[in-house]
Amino acid sequence: MDLTTHKTADTHESAPSYGSGGSGSAPAPDPLKLAVVIGSDREGRFAPVVADWFLARATVREDFSVDVVDVAEVDLPTSLSYRPAAPVRAELAKVSPRLADAEAFVVLTPEYNHSFPASLKNLIDWHYGEWQAKPVGFISYGGISGGLRAVEQLRQVFAELHAVTVRDTVAFPNAGGQFDSDGQHKDPAAPEAAVKTMLDQLAWWGTALRDARSRRPYAG
Ligand SMILES: Cc1cc2nc3c(=O)[nH]c(=O)nc-3n(C[C@H](O)[C@H](O)[C@H](O)COP(=O)(O)O)c2cc1C
Repeated sequence: MDLTTHKTADTHESAPSYGSGGSGSAPAPDPLKLAVVIGSDREGRFAPVVADWFLARATVREDFSVDVVDVAEVDLPTSLSYRPAAPVRAELAKVSPRLADAEAFVVLTPEYNHSFPASLKNLIDWHYGEWQAKPVGFISYGGISGGLRAVEQLRQVFAELHAVTVRDTVAFPNAGGQFDSDGQHKDPAAPEAAVKTMLDQLAWWGTALRDARSRRPYAG
C-alpha cells in the first residue's frame, strides 16, 4: 500500500472528480487565501524540507494565494489567557490576523508519540473564530505511519473548532528517506498526485464556504 496517497475511507475506491476546472465560461473566482501552518518548532526539525517541497507545488496554482504561518516564528506561551499581556498580544499580532484572513488552511504536521506536536496545538488553541467555517487539508510526515495518526487526531480538534477537514491527505512515511539532500522527492509521482487531489478538494470546499459565509455569517 502506498501511504503517500492515503485515502481515509477505504470503502470509496473510485474517488469523485473534484477540481477547479470546468467547461463553462464563468469567470474564475478570486484566488483563495491559503494559510499553510507549519506545526513543528523542534530544533533541527525536518519540517522545512516537507514545507518547501509542498510550497513549490501550491504556489504555482492560480486558485490559491499562499501565506506561510510557521509556529517557529511566533513565541506563544502555553499558559492561555483571555487577557494576554502586551508581549503576548504582540506575538499574537504576528499570526492571528493572518489566520483570520485565511479562507483555507493546510496544516503540516509531524507525528510525535502517535499525535501532533504541542507547538501546533498551542497555536490552534490560542485561536478560535479564525478557524471557523473554513476547510483544512493536511500534509503529514514521520516514521512508519507517515503522521496519519496525528492527522486523524487533528480532525477531531478541528471539528470542535467548526472547521471542515478534507478527506484526502498527503503523507510521507519514513520521511527522511524520501527526499534527497537538495530537498527533492526521490519518487515524486505519487505525492504530487496526492497534493493535487488534496488541494482540489480544498479549493472546492474553500470556494463553497467562502460563498456560504458571504451569504450568511456562520452562527456557530
Ligand atoms: C518526540 C518525538 C516523538 C515521535 N513519535 C513518533 C511517532 O509516534 N510516530 C512516528 O511515526 N514518528 C515519530 N517521531 C518521528 C518524527 O515524526 C520525525 O522525526 C519527524 O521528522 C519530526 O518532525 P520535525 O523534525 O519536523 O519536528 C517522533 C519524533 C519525536 C521528536
